Amino acid sequence: PTLGIVVVAAGSGARLGGAEPKAFVALRGVPILERALRGVFDSVEPAQVVVVAPESHVKAARTIAERVAGGASGAITVVAGGSTRQASVAAGLAALSAEVDTVLVHDAARALTPSALIDRVARAVRTTGAGVIPALPVTDTVKRVGPDAVVQGTVDRSDLVHVQTPQGFPRADLEAAYASATDEHTDDAALFAAHGGRVSVVEGEARAFKITTAWDLRRAENVLGAQTA
Ligand code: C5P
Repeated sequence: PTLGIVVVAAGSGARLGGAEPKAFVALRGVPILERALRGVFDSVEPAQVVVVAPESHVKAARTIAERVAGGASGAITVVAGGSTRQASVAAGLAALSAEVDTVLVHDAARALTPSALIDRVARAVRTTGAGVIPALPVTDTVKRVGPDAVVQGTVDRSDLVHVQTPQGFPRADLEAAYASATDEHTDDAALFAAHGGRVSVVEGEARAFKITTAWDLRRAENVLGAQTA
């Protein structure tokens, strides 16, 4: 395949407070990583899927990935991540096979991401030849606040968005950006842009929200309703 999808799942999930790393916490009976991989494997274009797992959970991640992939398990690679998300993405990129020319980087924690979003981002990267990220408008009013808890002003939200994953890039450009990155960035698009890359947005999906806290896990459970498998 010429599409590579790096699914980062090596976080500890400290803010979720489960006994296991976040990607291995059950969401209505199915691990978060497994839910995320279902969306990935339901996307239309054949892809090499690289799962980046905590060192302690590489084997468990492989078992989950093979279960989701079924017959397509040849297209799966599982590697150990690093101490930051950025290090984990770098480990995933290093495992891509030679023929991959387009890379999506996706958070396993966005467990309910619809496959249509993955398709949308992949297509847009190929059309634009640049970075592509899913975004949704900011709906809350945004304030700037001083250290004394005093509100300093209201930020114009008309051109603000909040962004999701998967984030897609031409492979060579993303690898070049990673090779010269020294600072930590909060997402791949920021790292890419810091090294001169152009990034545009496509419409995001409400269901692609990230599970960070126990509240987010409850929300995901509610979205799934009574569904257990
Ligand atoms: O912590 P947060 O939920 O923002 O992390 C986003 C994604 O990055 C998660 O899917 C998490 O597993 C992954 N991650 C990682 N390696 C780290 C930290 C986070 O793969 N060291």
